[in-house]
Amino acid sequence: MTDSKSDNRPTRALLRRRELLWLGIGALSGASAVVLGRSPQPSGQATAQSPEARSFEVSGDRSLGARAAAKGILYGAAIDRSILADDTAFTARFVQECRMLVPENSMKWRSLRPSLDTFDFNAADQVVDFATQHNLEVRGHTLVWHQSLPGWFAEEVTRQNAEQVLVNHVQTVARRYAGRIHSWDVVNEAIQPKEKQTDDFRNSPWFKLLGIDYVELAFRVAAEADPNAMLLYNDYSLDYDTDEDETKRNAVLRLLERLKSRGVPIHALGLQAHLDGQDSHQLNPVQMQRFLREVADLGLKVFVTELDVKDQTLPANVDQRDRIVAAAYEDYLSAILAEPAVIAVLTWGLSDRYSWLSEFKPREDGMPVRPLPLDDELQPKLAWNAIARAFDQAPRR
Ligand code: G3I
Repeated sequence: MTDSKSDNRPTRALLRRRELLWLGIGALSGASAVVLGRSPQPSGQATAQSPEARSFEVSGDRSLGARAAAKGILYGAAIDRSILADDTAFTARFVQECRMLVPENSMKWRSLRPSLDTFDFNAADQVVDFATQHNLEVRGHTLVWHQSLPGWFAEEVTRQNAEQVLVNHVQTVARRYAGRIHSWDVVNEAIQPKEKQTDDFRNSPWFKLLGIDYVELAFRVAAEADPNAMLLYNDYSLDYDTDEDETKRNAVLRLLERLKSRGVPIHALGLQAHLDGQDSHQLNPVQMQRFLREVADLGLKVFVTELDVKDQTLPANVDQRDRIVAAAYEDYLSAILAEPAVIAVLTWGLSDRYSWLSEFKPREDGMPVRPLPLDDELQPKLAWNAIARAFDQAPRR
């Protein structure tokens, strides 16, 4: 990867200008702010428009799923089993907007594996059945991850049995849903350069037990168990023009190159894209597009797998906050969707009624978080408009 710092001076200057403009946000108040109504740049170049100055205007009443599909993109969202059972208004809205779902938690080890010798598919089956009933594609999340491992894992999985435990899990789960899964997150978050391990691997239980080969093994077993599913490597902190994200992009690229050069069956990269409304000025569209081209040049597709925009430290004023969040969605998606290898966008939830951020990144002022396209009454927010606009402007793939 080339050094972005030297090539991108004009973009960075533009971004700095935008940052300054955004600092003036408090002077403009709420919905009555000047509306210029400019469109997002189809090329994904940075725009100097502040969130306050944007119109977020959308034409027509088509769903996000329909707008995305018109461009050859799949739109969907994460959903949990408990929601399916308890909230019919939400599920009805979900089915209107989405063409794809991903179980937020039901396919993790903690949900699937009550013990070393047993599987419990109850929750995962319910989510997959719901998808089948409503003609939604399903993403599987996730076969191998260092988090959400069951309590028994640390005691019962050893260097002696780790390979067999991993193979058995991937084989059993991928075979059970073969034919019903569009794509699997085979390995999640294996890279963490900060931990200073071989090839920038995260010092996870899997790495400690099996070394770097567990990634290749998981992909090979998954491909054999479900030859029709697309297989992804999925990770976070790949989005911004910061040293940390640049180091991680480079490390992920090296992993992908290595896997491809060894003939490993991997088909796409998943960008989690948990964005932060206060970091929007750190998005560098040119740099992101170059990264995505490098991924695409390896013959891989790209999915945005867990998109949301954190508002933990944004102003309390709901109108201001929604505008900043919406601008973050619009800028990110218009940058990313300029690359035709990006074929799916999933938000990590659909409505503010259910977001992991309420629990994990609550606001200090106690106000509810607003990171998703619909509010907690299931009404579209400006974030919905921003996503709709980005799909409408995206080149067809
Ligand atoms: O299911 C139990 C429930 O029985 C119990 O009463 C309750 C008590 O807190 O906990 C419930 O489990 C929680 C589970 O979510 C379901 O709500 C876990 O504590 C909680 O840790 C778990 O958090 C999930 C987290 O991953 C860890 O698995 C979040 O919902 C989920 O949004 C989050 O998603 C991850 C992606 O998988 C990978 N990328 C990052 C993303 C955000 O962290």
